[in-house]
Amino acid sequence: MQRIDTDVVIVGAGAAGLTAATELVKAGRDVVVLEARDRVGGRLWTGDVDGAMLEIGGQWVSPDQDALIETLDELGLETYPRYRDGVNVYIGPGGELKKFEGDIFPVPPATEQEIVTLIEKLDALVAEIDPEEPWAHPQAKDLDEISFARWLETQTDDDEARENVGMFIAGAMLTKPAHAFSALQALLMAASAGSFSNLVDADFILDRRVVGGLQLVPLGLAERLGDRVRLGQPVRTLRWSIEPTDGADGASAVVAVTDELEVHARQAILAIPPVLVNRISYEPPLPRRQHQLHQHLSMGFVIKVHAVYDTPFWREQGLSGTAFSPWELVHEAYDNSNHGDPRGTLVGFVADEAADGVFQLSAEERKAAILESMSHYYGEQAKHPVVYYESDWGSEEWTRGAYAASFDMGGLARYGADLRTPVGPIRFACSDMAGKGYQHVDGAIRMGRLVAAQILEAEPVEATAR
Ligand code: FDA
Repeated sequence: MQRIDTDVVIVGAGAAGLTAATELVKAGRDVVVLEARDRVGGRLWTGDVDGAMLEIGGQWVSPDQDALIETLDELGLETYPRYRDGVNVYIGPGGELKKFEGDIFPVPPATEQEIVTLIEKLDALVAEIDPEEPWAHPQAKDLDEISFARWLETQTDDDEARENVGMFIAGAMLTKPAHAFSALQALLMAASAGSFSNLVDADFILDRRVVGGLQLVPLGLAERLGDRVRLGQPVRTLRWSIEPTDGADGASAVVAVTDELEVHARQAILAIPPVLVNRISYEPPLPRRQHQLHQHLSMGFVIKVHAVYDTPFWREQGLSGTAFSPWELVHEAYDNSNHGDPRGTLVGFVADEAADGVFQLSAEERKAAILESMSHYYGEQAKHPVVYYESDWGSEEWTRGAYAASFDMGGLARYGADLRTPVGPIRFACSDMAGKGYQHVDGAIRMGRLVAAQILEAEPVEATAR
C-alpha cells in the first residue's frame, strides 16, 4: 500500500471533481484525485463505435450554462449548433404523425390551450422557486407530497396536454415516471434551467455541442492536473475524524483508501453521484442524517440510442430530425450528426418503464423495437443504420443509471437542505446536488467551484503548507 500526503483528496474525476481540483490547484493547494474507472469524465464519455464518434453520455450545452461555457472558453473548445432546419414531427395518441414548427405540438386547439395554460402555471410556480433551496418555498412540503402526475391531474382533464407537459420533466429530464417524483422535484428541475418554458424549448436546452465531444472538458482539465489524477483507484474506505488536525502528529483528518493507495489529507471531496456515497465504508460511520438521506435518492433510467446512417436522409424530406411522442417507445429524438461528418446520426431516448420493458427483450429484439419506433418518425430508412449503439448507464457500476439522481416523494423537502452539508472534513459535490444546472454538466462545474471555494475560505493559505 503506497502512502501519499496531500492537502485535499478528491474522489471522482467527473466534471465536478476535476473542476474542484483545478480551482484548488490554481489557489496553490496540493490535491490528489482518485478515480475508480480507467478513464476520466464519469458521465461524459466519447466513444468510437464501429468507426462512428458517439457521445455516450452528456453532450448538449444551453446558452444559460455560464459555468460550463466559461470552462469551454478556458479550454479553448469550440461548439456548433444542433441541426434543426426544417419541420419537426409529433405522433399523437392515435398514432397519427403531424409535422410542426415552433414549441407547441400540433394538437387540437382545446388541448393547445390547456398546454399553454399549464406552461404558464408552471412558469409562475417556477419563478417562486429558488433552485438553490427549493425546500424554502412556503408550499414546499405540500408540493413534495403530491406526485407530478397527480398534480397535473389536478390542473387539467385533458390527457394529451398532461402527457405532453409531463413528458418534458418525466421521460425527458428526471427519466422517472411522473408518478414517482413530486411536483416540487419537477419544479426544481425547471427552476434549474431558468423556467419551465426553457425546458420545453429544445432549441434552448439542446442548443449546441462541442466539436470533438463534451468529454473534452474533463480530458482537458485532467491533462492540466497531470499525475495528480490517479485512474483505476476506486475508493473503498474513508477514515475520517471530526476533530480538525493539521497532520503535525502524523494524524490526518481524512484518509482515502483504495486497493493500492492510502491518501492522507486535511479535507476530502466526494465528487461522486449521491447514490454511490453508501458504496464507500466510513470509519467511523457517517452520521445518522447521512445514512438516512442517501436512501431517499435514486438514479433515473434512460437508454440513449445512437443510429448512424450513410447520409442524413431525413433532411431531404425537409425534416429537422426533432421528433416527440409520449406514446412512442422512443419518446424524443434529434439529428445528432457530428460536426463536419457527411454521415447522418439520429439520437433517440427510451426512458424509465419503457427502458425496463425493452431490457426484457434480447438485444436483437430490442434493437428492432427501437428502430421500429424511430421509423414511425422518419420512415422505413430509419430501420437500417450502418452503426447502432445503446448507451446503457444502468449497467455502469460507477454510475448506475442516467441521467442523474433525484429524491423520492417527500425526500426533497425533508432532506434536500442537508445534501451538501459537510461531515467533518468531508464535502460533497456533484451535478445531482446542484441548484442551477441541476443534473447537468453546468451544475457539476458549479458544485466543484463551490466546494473548492468553501475549502479555500475555511483554510487560510498559510495553514496549507505541508
Ligand atoms: P460523474 O458521475 O460524471 O462523475 C463521478 C465520478 O466519480 C465518475 O468518474 C465515477 O467513476 C467516480 N466514482 C464513483 N464512485 C467512486 C469511488 N468510490 N472511488 C473513486 N471514484 C468514484 N448533461 C448535460 O449538461 N448535457 C447533456 O446533454 C447531458 N446528457 C446526458 C446523457 C446521458 C446518457 C447521461 C448519463 C448524462 C447526461 N447529462 C447531460 C448529465 C451529465 O453528464 C452529468 O450531470 C455530469 O456529467 C455529472 O458530472 P459529475 O462530476 O457530477 O458526476
